[in-house]
Amino acid sequence: MKGIFPIDKFRQIQTPFYFYNTELLRETLKNINTEANKYNYHIHYAVKANANPRILSIIREQGLGADCVSGGEIQAALNAGFPSEKIVFAGVGKADWEINLGLDKNIFCFNAESIPELEVINELATAKGKIARVALRINPEVNAHTHHHITTGLKENKFGINLDQLDKVLDCLETLASVQLIGIHFHIGSQLTDLEPFQALCNRVIEIQQQLAKRKITVEHINFGGGLGIDYDHPNRNSIPDFKEYFEVFHKHFPVLPNQQVHFEPGRSIVGQCGSLISKVLYVKEGSVKKFVVLDAGFTELIRPAFYEAYHKIENISSEEPQETYDVVGPICESSDCFAKQIDLNKTHRGDFVAIRSAGAYGEIMASQYNCRQLPQSYFSDLL
Ligand SMILES: Cc1ncc(COP(=O)(O)O)c(C=O)c1O
Repeated sequence: MKGIFPIDKFRQIQTPFYFYNTELLRETLKNINTEANKYNYHIHYAVKANANPRILSIIREQGLGADCVSGGEIQAALNAGFPSEKIVFAGVGKADWEINLGLDKNIFCFNAESIPELEVINELATAKGKIARVALRINPEVNAHTHHHITTGLKENKFGINLDQLDKVLDCLETLASVQLIGIHFHIGSQLTDLEPFQALCNRVIEIQQQLAKRKITVEHINFGGGLGIDYDHPNRNSIPDFKEYFEVFHKHFPVLPNQQVHFEPGRSIVGQCGSLISKVLYVKEGSVKKFVVLDAGFTELIRPAFYEAYHKIENISSEEPQETYDVVGPICESSDCFAKQIDLNKTHRGDFVAIRSAGAYGEIMASQYNCRQLPQSYFSDLL
Protein backbone atom coordinates (compact mmCIF):
# COMPACT_ATOMS: atom_id res chain seq x y z
CA MET A 1 0.00 0.00 0.00
CA LYS A 2 2.54 2.51 1.15
CA GLY A 3 4.58 1.84 -1.98
CA ILE A 4 2.25 3.84 -4.17
CA PHE A 5 2.50 6.99 -2.06
CA PRO A 6 5.80 8.87 -1.52
CA ILE A 7 5.11 9.68 2.13
CA ASP A 8 8.51 11.24 2.79
CA LYS A 9 7.77 13.75 0.06
CA PHE A 10 4.25 14.28 1.37
CA ARG A 11 5.75 15.34 4.72
CA GLN A 12 7.19 18.41 3.03
CA ILE A 13 3.89 19.53 1.48
CA GLN A 14 1.04 21.49 3.03
CA THR A 15 -2.04 19.27 3.30
CA PRO A 16 -4.72 18.73 2.12
CA PHE A 17 -3.80 18.27 -1.54
CA TYR A 18 -4.60 16.15 -4.56
CA PHE A 19 -2.01 13.61 -5.62
CA TYR A 20 -2.24 12.33 -9.18
CA ASN A 21 -0.61 9.15 -10.40
CA THR A 22 0.28 10.25 -13.92
CA GLU A 23 1.68 6.81 -14.87
CA LEU A 24 -1.75 5.32 -14.17
CA LEU A 25 -3.45 8.12 -16.11
CA ARG A 26 -1.21 7.44 -19.13
CA GLU A 27 -1.83 3.67 -18.87
CA THR A 28 -5.59 4.30 -18.71
CA LEU A 29 -5.43 6.54 -21.78
CA LYS A 30 -3.38 3.97 -23.68
CA ASN A 31 -5.93 1.32 -22.81
CA ILE A 32 -9.01 3.35 -23.81
CA ASN A 33 -7.36 4.39 -27.07
CA THR A 34 -6.46 0.79 -27.94
CA GLU A 35 -9.98 -0.45 -27.26
CA ALA A 36 -11.75 2.46 -28.99
CA ASN A 37 -9.47 2.31 -32.03
CA LYS A 38 -10.57 -1.28 -32.69
CA TYR A 39 -13.90 0.14 -33.86
CA ASN A 40 -12.80 3.63 -34.95
CA TYR A 41 -14.72 5.17 -32.07
CA HIS A 42 -13.91 8.80 -31.19
CA ILE A 43 -13.28 9.77 -27.57
CA HIS A 44 -13.96 13.22 -26.15
CA TYR A 45 -12.84 13.48 -22.54
CA ALA A 46 -15.56 15.01 -20.31
CA VAL A 47 -13.68 18.01 -18.92
CA LYS A 48 -16.19 18.39 -16.10
CA ALA A 49 -14.65 15.38 -14.34
CA ASN A 50 -11.30 17.12 -13.83
CA ALA A 51 -10.04 20.29 -15.51
CA ASN A 52 -6.65 20.43 -13.81
CA PRO A 53 -4.42 21.97 -16.54
CA ARG A 54 -1.74 19.26 -16.30
CA ILE A 55 -4.32 16.45 -16.37
CA LEU A 56 -5.92 18.09 -19.41
CA SER A 57 -2.63 18.39 -21.23
CA ILE A 58 -1.73 14.73 -20.62
CA ILE A 59 -5.14 13.73 -21.99
CA ARG A 60 -4.72 16.02 -25.00
CA GLU A 61 -1.25 14.56 -25.72
CA GLN A 62 -2.91 11.16 -26.16
CA GLY A 63 -5.12 12.57 -28.94
CA LEU A 64 -8.52 12.70 -27.24
CA GLY A 65 -11.06 15.43 -27.93
CA ALA A 66 -12.84 17.45 -25.22
CA ASP A 67 -16.47 17.43 -24.15
CA CYS A 68 -17.24 20.75 -22.46
CA VAL A 69 -20.31 21.99 -20.59
CA SER A 70 -19.45 25.66 -20.18
CA GLY A 71 -17.52 28.48 -21.79
CA GLY A 72 -14.97 28.14 -18.99
CA GLU A 73 -14.41 24.51 -19.91
CA ILE A 74 -14.06 25.39 -23.60
CA GLN A 75 -11.42 27.92 -22.61
CA ALA A 76 -9.66 25.40 -20.33
CA ALA A 77 -9.62 22.84 -23.16
CA LEU A 78 -8.22 25.41 -25.63
CA ASN A 79 -5.58 26.50 -23.09
CA ALA A 80 -4.51 22.87 -22.74
CA GLY A 81 -4.07 22.68 -26.51
CA PHE A 82 -7.15 20.70 -27.55
CA PRO A 83 -7.83 21.58 -31.19
CA SER A 84 -11.16 23.40 -31.56
CA GLU A 85 -12.35 20.87 -34.14
CA LYS A 86 -12.21 18.24 -31.39
CA ILE A 87 -14.30 20.22 -28.90
CA VAL A 88 -18.00 19.57 -28.34
CA PHE A 89 -20.18 21.81 -26.20
CA ALA A 90 -23.08 20.32 -24.23
CA GLY A 91 -25.26 21.66 -21.42
CA VAL A 92 -28.87 22.51 -20.77
CA GLY A 93 -28.22 26.23 -20.20
CA LYS A 94 -25.70 27.73 -22.59
CA ALA A 95 -25.34 31.50 -22.14
CA ASP A 96 -25.02 33.73 -25.22
CA TRP A 97 -21.35 34.50 -24.54
CA GLU A 98 -20.62 30.78 -24.30
CA ILE A 99 -22.34 30.06 -27.61
CA ASN A 100 -20.47 32.99 -29.18
CA LEU A 101 -17.18 31.61 -27.87
CA GLY A 102 -17.97 28.23 -29.45
CA LEU A 103 -18.85 29.93 -32.74
CA ASP A 104 -15.77 32.17 -32.73
CA LYS A 105 -13.51 29.18 -32.06
CA ASN A 106 -15.29 27.04 -34.69
CA ILE A 107 -15.82 24.14 -32.31
CA PHE A 108 -16.84 20.81 -33.77
CA CYS A 109 -20.40 20.73 -32.47
CA PHE A 110 -23.03 22.12 -30.09
CA ASN A 111 -25.08 19.46 -28.37
CA ALA A 112 -28.42 21.25 -28.24
CA GLU A 113 -31.20 20.41 -25.83
CA SER A 114 -34.28 22.48 -26.69
CA ILE A 115 -36.05 24.55 -29.34
CA PRO A 116 -35.33 27.88 -27.58
CA GLU A 117 -31.64 26.98 -27.43
CA LEU A 118 -31.58 26.04 -31.13
CA GLU A 119 -33.23 29.37 -31.95
CA VAL A 120 -30.59 31.30 -30.00
CA ILE A 121 -27.73 29.34 -31.58
CA ASN A 122 -29.28 30.10 -34.99
CA GLU A 123 -29.64 33.80 -34.20
CA LEU A 124 -26.06 34.15 -32.91
CA ALA A 125 -24.63 32.13 -35.82
CA THR A 126 -26.58 34.24 -38.32
CA ALA A 127 -25.17 37.42 -36.75
CA LYS A 128 -21.67 36.09 -37.37
CA GLY A 129 -22.45 34.78 -40.85
CA LYS A 130 -21.64 31.26 -39.68
CA ILE A 131 -23.30 27.86 -39.76
CA ALA A 132 -23.37 26.15 -36.34
CA ARG A 133 -23.04 22.37 -36.38
CA VAL A 134 -25.42 20.84 -33.86
CA ALA A 135 -26.23 17.43 -32.48
CA LEU A 136 -29.58 17.00 -30.75
CA ARG A 137 -29.25 15.75 -27.21
CA ILE A 138 -32.15 13.35 -26.96
CA ASN A 139 -33.39 12.03 -23.65
CA PRO A 140 -33.61 8.32 -24.44
CA GLU A 141 -35.75 7.40 -21.42
CA VAL A 142 -33.38 4.61 -20.48
CA ASN A 143 -32.92 3.96 -16.77
CA ALA A 144 -29.25 3.91 -15.82
CA HIS A 145 -29.98 2.37 -12.39
CA THR A 146 -27.43 4.62 -10.73
CA HIS A 147 -27.71 7.23 -7.95
CA HIS A 148 -30.68 9.57 -8.60
CA HIS A 149 -28.40 12.63 -8.55
CA ILE A 150 -26.41 11.24 -11.47
CA THR A 151 -29.23 9.75 -13.54
CA THR A 152 -29.87 11.91 -16.58
CA GLY A 153 -31.77 9.84 -19.15
CA LEU A 154 -35.27 9.73 -17.66
CA LYS A 155 -38.31 11.73 -18.73
CA GLU A 156 -38.35 13.72 -15.50
CA ASN A 157 -34.69 14.78 -15.80
CA LYS A 158 -33.99 18.27 -17.10
CA PHE A 159 -31.61 17.00 -19.77
CA GLY A 160 -32.23 16.49 -23.45
CA ILE A 161 -35.18 16.58 -25.83
CA ASN A 162 -38.02 14.24 -24.87
CA LEU A 163 -38.75 11.56 -27.44
CA ASP A 164 -42.33 12.71 -27.94
CA GLN A 165 -41.06 16.19 -28.87
CA LEU A 166 -38.45 15.12 -31.37
CA ASP A 167 -40.66 15.69 -34.42
CA LYS A 168 -41.48 19.20 -33.25
CA VAL A 169 -37.77 19.95 -32.86
CA LEU A 170 -37.01 18.57 -36.32
CA ASP A 171 -39.80 20.74 -37.80
CA CYS A 172 -38.21 23.75 -36.11
CA LEU A 173 -34.73 22.84 -37.39
CA GLU A 174 -36.03 23.02 -40.96
CA THR A 175 -36.72 26.72 -40.40
CA LEU A 176 -33.28 27.56 -39.01
CA ALA A 177 -30.90 28.50 -41.81
CA SER A 178 -27.71 28.90 -39.73
CA VAL A 179 -27.88 25.57 -37.94
CA GLN A 180 -26.79 22.29 -39.47
CA LEU A 181 -27.89 19.02 -37.89
CA ILE A 182 -24.91 16.66 -37.87
CA GLY A 183 -25.71 14.21 -35.11
CA ILE A 184 -27.58 12.93 -32.11
CA HIS A 185 -26.28 12.82 -28.58
CA PHE A 186 -27.18 10.84 -25.46
CA HIS A 187 -25.97 10.52 -21.89
CA ILE A 188 -27.94 8.33 -19.51
CA GLY A 189 -26.06 8.81 -16.26
CA SER A 190 -22.81 8.35 -14.45
CA GLN A 191 -21.03 5.61 -12.48
CA LEU A 192 -22.72 2.75 -14.33
CA THR A 193 -21.17 -0.54 -13.33
CA ASP A 194 -23.82 -2.71 -14.97
CA LEU A 195 -23.47 -2.48 -18.76
CA GLU A 196 -27.05 -3.54 -19.52
CA PRO A 197 -28.40 0.06 -19.69
CA PHE A 198 -25.85 0.78 -22.45
CA GLN A 199 -27.30 -2.11 -24.45
CA ALA A 200 -30.79 -0.64 -23.88
CA LEU A 201 -29.41 2.71 -25.08
CA CYS A 202 -28.13 1.11 -28.32
CA ASN A 203 -31.56 -0.36 -28.98
CA ARG A 204 -33.22 2.99 -28.35
CA VAL A 205 -30.80 4.79 -30.67
CA ILE A 206 -31.58 2.32 -33.43
CA GLU A 207 -35.30 3.09 -33.00
CA ILE A 208 -34.61 6.82 -33.09
CA GLN A 209 -32.58 6.42 -36.26
CA GLN A 210 -35.52 4.65 -37.84
CA GLN A 211 -37.79 7.54 -36.84
CA LEU A 212 -35.31 9.97 -38.40
CA ALA A 213 -34.99 7.87 -41.56
CA LYS A 214 -38.74 8.35 -42.13
CA ARG A 215 -37.93 12.04 -42.50
CA LYS A 216 -35.00 11.19 -44.76
CA ILE A 217 -32.51 12.22 -42.10
CA THR A 218 -29.35 10.15 -41.70
CA VAL A 219 -27.18 11.38 -38.89
CA GLU A 220 -23.47 11.35 -39.47
CA HIS A 221 -22.47 11.44 -35.79
CA ILE A 222 -23.81 9.36 -32.93
CA ASN A 223 -22.59 10.37 -29.46
CA PHE A 224 -23.31 7.88 -26.67
CA GLY A 225 -22.04 10.18 -23.87
CA GLY A 226 -20.12 8.92 -20.88
CA GLY A 227 -21.07 7.07 -17.75
CA LEU A 228 -18.82 4.04 -17.40
CA GLY A 229 -18.21 3.50 -13.68
CA ILE A 230 -15.07 2.75 -11.72
CA ASP A 231 -14.42 0.36 -8.82
CA TYR A 232 -14.44 2.57 -5.73
CA ASP A 233 -14.08 -0.52 -3.52
CA HIS A 234 -10.90 -1.83 -5.13
CA PRO A 235 -8.85 1.04 -6.58
CA ASN A 236 -5.66 -1.04 -6.63
CA ARG A 237 -7.10 -4.24 -8.06
CA ASN A 238 -9.25 -2.50 -10.68
CA SER A 239 -7.29 0.62 -11.39
CA ILE A 240 -8.27 0.66 -15.09
CA PRO A 241 -11.93 0.18 -16.05
CA ASP A 242 -12.83 -2.58 -18.49
CA PHE A 243 -12.96 -0.49 -21.65
CA LYS A 244 -12.76 -3.64 -23.77
CA GLU A 245 -16.04 -4.99 -22.41
CA TYR A 246 -17.63 -1.52 -22.54
CA PHE A 247 -16.93 -0.86 -26.23
CA GLU A 248 -17.84 -4.44 -27.11
CA VAL A 249 -21.40 -3.73 -25.91
CA PHE A 250 -21.72 -0.90 -28.44
CA HIS A 251 -19.97 -2.82 -31.21
CA LYS A 252 -22.31 -5.77 -30.67
CA HIS A 253 -25.56 -3.84 -30.27
CA PHE A 254 -25.14 -0.80 -32.47
CA PRO A 255 -24.44 -1.45 -36.17
CA VAL A 256 -22.68 1.62 -37.53
CA LEU A 257 -24.09 2.90 -40.82
CA PRO A 258 -21.79 3.72 -43.74
CA ASN A 259 -20.12 7.12 -43.26
CA GLN A 260 -21.30 7.28 -39.65
CA GLN A 261 -18.94 8.22 -36.81
CA VAL A 262 -19.48 7.07 -33.23
CA HIS A 263 -18.38 9.21 -30.28
CA PHE A 264 -18.09 8.77 -26.50
CA GLU A 265 -17.58 11.23 -23.65
CA PRO A 266 -16.04 9.40 -20.69
CA GLY A 267 -14.92 11.41 -17.69
CA ARG A 268 -14.77 9.43 -14.47
CA SER A 269 -13.47 6.24 -16.10
CA ILE A 270 -10.41 8.12 -17.41
CA VAL A 271 -9.38 10.17 -14.40
CA GLY A 272 -11.19 8.67 -11.38
CA GLN A 273 -8.60 6.17 -10.21
CA CYS A 274 -5.50 8.28 -10.80
CA GLY A 275 -6.29 10.83 -8.07
CA SER A 276 -6.23 10.64 -4.27
CA LEU A 277 -6.99 13.35 -1.78
CA ILE A 278 -4.18 13.40 0.78
CA SER A 279 -5.01 14.77 4.18
CA LYS A 280 -3.44 14.91 7.61
CA VAL A 281 -5.13 13.84 10.82
CA LEU A 282 -5.71 16.84 13.06
CA TYR A 283 -7.22 15.01 16.02
CA VAL A 284 -8.50 11.65 17.12
CA LYS A 285 -11.53 12.51 19.16
CA GLU A 286 -12.99 9.95 21.51
CA GLY A 287 -16.76 10.53 21.77
CA SER A 288 -18.94 8.65 24.24
CA VAL A 289 -20.08 6.13 21.61
CA LYS A 290 -17.64 6.60 18.74
CA LYS A 291 -14.11 7.54 17.85
CA PHE A 292 -13.71 10.27 15.25
CA VAL A 293 -10.74 10.88 13.02
CA VAL A 294 -10.82 14.60 12.29
CA LEU A 295 -9.01 15.40 9.04
CA ASP A 296 -7.71 18.69 7.70
CA ALA A 297 -9.70 17.97 4.48
CA GLY A 298 -13.44 18.40 4.35
CA PHE A 299 -16.21 18.50 1.79
CA THR A 300 -14.65 21.70 0.52
CA GLU A 301 -11.94 19.49 -1.03
CA LEU A 302 -14.07 16.43 -1.87
CA ILE A 303 -17.83 16.87 -1.83
CA ARG A 304 -18.91 13.52 -3.26
CA PRO A 305 -19.59 11.73 0.06
CA ALA A 306 -21.68 14.65 1.37
CA PHE A 307 -23.37 15.38 -1.96
CA TYR A 308 -24.03 11.93 -3.45
CA GLU A 309 -23.54 9.70 -0.41
CA ALA A 310 -20.58 8.40 -2.39
CA TYR A 311 -18.20 5.82 -1.00
CA HIS A 312 -14.44 6.38 -1.22
CA LYS A 313 -11.91 3.94 0.17
CA ILE A 314 -9.92 5.62 2.95
CA GLU A 315 -6.51 4.44 4.08
CA ASN A 316 -4.15 5.52 6.82
CA ILE A 317 -0.94 5.43 4.81
CA SER A 318 1.43 6.24 7.66
CA SER A 319 0.40 3.79 10.40
CA GLU A 320 1.22 0.07 10.63
CA GLU A 321 -0.73 -0.51 13.84
CA PRO A 322 -3.71 -2.92 14.09
CA GLN A 323 -7.03 -1.58 12.86
CA GLU A 324 -9.64 0.25 14.89
CA THR A 325 -13.08 1.55 13.93
CA TYR A 326 -13.65 5.26 13.32
CA ASP A 327 -15.92 7.83 11.73
CA VAL A 328 -13.78 9.95 9.42
CA VAL A 329 -14.88 13.58 9.35
CA GLY A 330 -13.66 16.96 8.15
CA PRO A 331 -13.30 20.34 9.84
CA ILE A 332 -16.20 22.11 8.10
CA CYS A 333 -19.01 23.40 10.30
CA GLU A 334 -21.69 21.13 8.84
CA SER A 335 -22.73 17.67 10.08
CA SER A 336 -22.70 16.42 6.48
CA ASP A 337 -18.93 16.95 6.47
CA CYS A 338 -18.30 13.26 6.97
CA PHE A 339 -16.26 11.04 4.64
CA ALA A 340 -17.16 7.67 6.16
CA LYS A 341 -18.84 6.13 9.18
CA GLN A 342 -17.60 3.18 11.19
CA ILE A 343 -14.72 2.16 8.95
CA ASP A 344 -11.58 0.30 9.93
CA LEU A 345 -8.28 2.14 9.72
CA ASN A 346 -4.87 1.30 11.06
CA LYS A 347 -4.75 2.80 14.55
CA THR A 348 -4.68 6.50 13.90
CA HIS A 349 -2.84 9.35 15.61
CA ARG A 350 -2.56 13.09 15.15
CA GLY A 351 -0.23 13.83 12.22
CA ASP A 352 -0.92 10.60 10.30
CA PHE A 353 -1.49 10.79 6.55
CA VAL A 354 -4.77 9.59 5.13
CA ALA A 355 -5.43 8.88 1.44
CA ILE A 356 -8.98 9.16 0.16
CA ARG A 357 -8.81 7.07 -2.96
CA SER A 358 -10.48 7.21 -6.39
CA ALA A 359 -10.86 10.97 -6.09
CA GLY A 360 -9.54 11.95 -9.53
CA ALA A 361 -13.02 12.58 -10.94
CA TYR A 362 -15.44 15.17 -9.57
CA GLY A 363 -12.98 15.87 -6.74
CA GLU A 364 -10.62 18.79 -7.23
CA ILE A 365 -12.93 20.39 -9.78
CA MET A 366 -15.82 20.52 -7.29
CA ALA A 367 -13.73 22.03 -4.51
CA SER A 368 -15.12 25.17 -2.90
CA GLN A 369 -13.95 27.94 -0.62
CA TYR A 370 -16.78 27.52 1.90
CA ASN A 371 -15.65 28.54 5.39
CA CYS A 372 -13.10 30.80 3.60
CA ARG A 373 -10.87 27.84 2.92
CA GLN A 374 -8.17 27.78 0.26
CA LEU A 375 -8.61 25.64 -2.83
CA PRO A 376 -6.44 22.50 -2.73
CA GLN A 377 -3.13 22.30 -4.57
CA SER A 378 -2.26 19.37 -6.83
CA TYR A 379 0.92 17.28 -7.15
CA PHE A 380 1.92 14.67 -9.69
CA SER A 381 3.77 11.36 -9.25
CA ASP A 382 6.22 12.15 -12.05
CA LEU A 383 7.08 15.63 -10.80
CA LEU A 384 7.46 15.05 -7.05
C1 LIG B 1 -23.31 15.11 -21.19
C2 LIG B 1 -22.31 14.39 -20.39
N1 LIG B 1 -21.32 13.72 -21.02
C3 LIG B 1 -20.37 13.07 -20.32
C4 LIG B 1 -20.37 13.03 -18.95
C5 LIG B 1 -19.28 12.28 -18.24
O1 LIG B 1 -19.79 11.25 -17.49
P1 LIG B 1 -18.82 10.24 -16.73
O2 LIG B 1 -17.86 11.01 -15.93
O3 LIG B 1 -19.77 9.42 -15.93
O4 LIG B 1 -18.15 9.39 -17.78
C6 LIG B 1 -21.38 13.67 -18.24
C7 LIG B 1 -21.42 13.60 -16.78
O5 LIG B 1 -22.31 13.95 -16.09
C8 LIG B 1 -22.38 14.38 -18.98
O6 LIG B 1 -23.37 15.03 -18.36
